[in-house]
Amino acid sequence: MIRTVATTPYDDQKPGTSGLRKKVPVFSQENYAENFIQSIFDALDGFKGKTLVLGGDGRYYNREVIQKVLCIAAANGFGKVMVGQGGILSTPAASHLIRKHKAFGGIILSASHNPGGPKEDFGIKYNAENGGPAPEKITDAIFSKSKAIKEYRIADAPAVDIDTVSTTTLEGMTVEVVDPVKDYAEMMEGLFDFKALRKLFESGFRMRFDAMHAVTGPYAKEIFENRLGAAEGTCRNYHPLPDFGGHHPDPNLVHAKHLYDDVMSAAGPEFGAASDGDGDRNMIVGKGMFVTPSDSLAIIAANATLAPGYARGIAGIARSMPTSAASDRVAEKLGVGIYETPTGWKFFGNLLDAGKVTLCGEESFGTGSNHVREKDGVWAVLFWLNIIAARGEGVKEIVEKHWAAYGRNYYSRHDYEEVESARANALIDELRGKLGSLPGTTVRGLTVEKADDFSYHDPVDHSVSEHQGVRVLFKGGSRVVFRLSGTGTSGATLRVYMERYEPDPKKHDIETQQALADLIAAADDIAGIRRHTGRDRPSVIT
Ligand code: G6P
Ligand code: ZN
Repeated sequence: MIRTVATTPYDDQKPGTSGLRKKVPVFSQENYAENFIQSIFDALDGFKGKTLVLGGDGRYYNREVIQKVLCIAAANGFGKVMVGQGGILSTPAASHLIRKHKAFGGIILSASHNPGGPKEDFGIKYNAENGGPAPEKITDAIFSKSKAIKEYRIADAPAVDIDTVSTTTLEGMTVEVVDPVKDYAEMMEGLFDFKALRKLFESGFRMRFDAMHAVTGPYAKEIFENRLGAAEGTCRNYHPLPDFGGHHPDPNLVHAKHLYDDVMSAAGPEFGAASDGDGDRNMIVGKGMFVTPSDSLAIIAANATLAPGYARGIAGIARSMPTSAASDRVAEKLGVGIYETPTGWKFFGNLLDAGKVTLCGEESFGTGSNHVREKDGVWAVLFWLNIIAARGEGVKEIVEKHWAAYGRNYYSRHDYEEVESARANALIDELRGKLGSLPGTTVRGLTVEKADDFSYHDPVDHSVSEHQGVRVLFKGGSRVVFRLSGTGTSGATLRVYMERYEPDPKKHDIETQQALADLIAAADDIAGIRRHTGRDRPSVIT
């Protein structure tokens, strides 16, 4: 039976950088999730009889919302929903399923790297038929539908069994429960030299992959241990848990510090990697060397042809604006295009679809390619393994040789989390107000060459996205970028990104914070970070 349920709108369902993210108590308010799901469908056209892909990162509330989406999709006329077994699909695996099965789109339930649990975060994101996050024109339409919604349609049916790979029907709609790993693992076999990787592990190469009790556990187990023969125990924390074991499933030097320490210890493995809640982020660590995400993109680009899937070369590279310019130098050497986009993977979609770029990356631990339309954690790890196997060198050697050839972009991000929104906005407003007066001034010995509020003109659909971060560029190529996070769920997070280019190999082993000390001080002088936030140091440094 299909019911039409009267409802009233919520005014806070504006999707952020990556879908709608709220605390579970917000999502579990009456009709809150139902309203948003119906608003997604109301914003779309032409899906009657078509396929929707559905899955999530397994966090708390995942199963409940999976059932809601199934019932609302059936009532709205979808022909079929492909749902990951157990409600599980990593974000890149969902993207791949949408593309492979030519689905109309997909719904991914995740709040990515944010903590999970009854009081923690949940999220709903819509991906379009190209497999990528919905572009702004769709997310804007979803938001406006959500503000005007009067009713939603839902099938009244018993819960669908999502734990058995099977095909059933729900009010005339087919529900296909699929193995979440199989298609994805097959795609990886086509992109990377699995034979060489098996040899690498056979030769005793030791790796540690930390799935952080999040979605990549089953993918990593199957690919690294079963298909590539890495020793049992290579994968850690591989059971997805609704609360991620009480941790932040965020692969960085703060939340995956144990992995870093493990690899750095004398007895530890040669290589360590981790992924986040929904499997799209990655962290790469080698003995004696943590690889910054910005460097990772550049090094993958410079070595891309070593992987069979990229043997014919890359078309171009895209990076988000706050990501370091390390990959710009690689693009220049390769003679391919380089694109600078706002933060958010969705901005890469058009460039990938148009064939202008093959590789994309962000400083926020995201790297990916045209194989899907999302960033991809396990893919990045496989790419590094492929490079290590093909070159017969370790991570440290590879990174240091890269710096020697291209120069080093010292890079760091300072986050001030849970700042009162009004104070954070005041900081940014004040900064915007003085952009015009900055060029020509000298701060801490650095002369400002240019200062602006980044706006992006999409070269494919010519859309314009404004206010994407304040940039202060200094003579000599150093810079500081300020922006507010679009993914937080409480207060505001101020992100300050610092970068300095150092061509001289003799100066490549300075501690990062030290190498950037003058830029860190200049950032505070320019933006009044302490004055506005009342904080004397960042909450997180990556
Ligand atoms: C998510 C998005 C990324 C983005 C990151 C940081 O992971 O998928 O594309 O770079 O969030 O966004 P934020 O707005 O918090 O800096
Ligand atoms: Zn994520």
